[in-house]
Amino acid sequence: MAQAPQKLKVGLMLPATGTFAALGTAIENGFRLHLAEQGGKLGGREVEFFKVDDESDPSKAIDNVNKLIKRDNVDVLIGSVHSGVAMAMARVAKGTGTLMINPNGGADAVTGSMCAVNIFRSSFSNWQPGFAIGQAMAAKGHKTAATITWKYAAGDEMAKGFKEGFEKSGGKVTKELTLPFPNVEFQSLLTEIASAKPDAVFSFFAGGGAVKFVKDYDGAGLKKNIPLFGTGFLTDGTLEAQGASAEGVLTSLHYADNLNTPRDNAFRLAYAKTFKMQPDVYAVQGYDAAQMLGIGLTAVKGDAKNTAGFAAALTKATIDSPRGKFTISKAHNPIQDMYLRQVSGKENKVIGVASKALEDPATGCRI
Ligand code: PHB
Repeated sequence: MAQAPQKLKVGLMLPATGTFAALGTAIENGFRLHLAEQGGKLGGREVEFFKVDDESDPSKAIDNVNKLIKRDNVDVLIGSVHSGVAMAMARVAKGTGTLMINPNGGADAVTGSMCAVNIFRSSFSNWQPGFAIGQAMAAKGHKTAATITWKYAAGDEMAKGFKEGFEKSGGKVTKELTLPFPNVEFQSLLTEIASAKPDAVFSFFAGGGAVKFVKDYDGAGLKKNIPLFGTGFLTDGTLEAQGASAEGVLTSLHYADNLNTPRDNAFRLAYAKTFKMQPDVYAVQGYDAAQMLGIGLTAVKGDAKNTAGFAAALTKATIDSPRGKFTISKAHNPIQDMYLRQVSGKENKVIGVASKALEDPATGCRI
């Protein structure tokens, strides 16, 4: 009798604590949902999980990823949420050749200057939603904008993408405000926005920080005079907690709550039944990380060391995602539609496509 293949060791390196804890949970849920739909196997192999809580702390990231690679001997790394953590993981993955699928962390470098045959993203680059909402804000007729975000790769790069999209379309960024990650003392910055009086505001916050920012922006009385825009993370997975403060906020993202396609409806129903909560963009990115792993591994008959064969299969594939179909660029980042969304009640409703089949420029990537 043929021997059953060894279990596939999947290392989940996600935040289980801190401002991004809920994001980590949604990614793992999404991953497990797809795996369950495949009868518990990917590429013909049963899956065994190894987990670390990375605390969204880049200073612990190298140690954490080494636990998964050296102690647990994982075949594939799935992670992470925070851009700084994702970059550290990518550095180690590149050095060791370990297969890595990043289900969120948007650091442009991961599929830019640090790109590698064994590194993939099921999510986005920070530039993508930033650029798209910059164009959309200008198209709404706004001429000046202030930006406000956390001071680290994700905030810096989304604000930079926003500025590029906005200024190429005739707008001007007149104020750039930041605070350290994961601080949430927004008051003095909101006072600065009130006195600068830009036409509109762009922001990136996520998770617990996004909940507080959107409430504080409204509470400071800014919302009615200076419309709030952002990358979609500002209002994804957060609407229950943000309540009426989020109503009307305009964002761009590769997912929305009312796509109303058979594919997304089936996904949303299965997710809600399994986890007793609504899915969000993070759940979709986790689900698609598992889909990508399954497609790549099937092509190489379960051999996770055959990263060249895995990459060849994925760059030819079309991923049938709940977000809509997407392909994988040569740099291994999704080429995908950026929806324009507006908060209405408890949903991020699509009101248009801000940028169709948007591909990250992948600056510095040579593969
Ligand atoms: C990031 O650090 O890259 C990041 C974190 C949370 C998000 C999006 C991006 O929601």
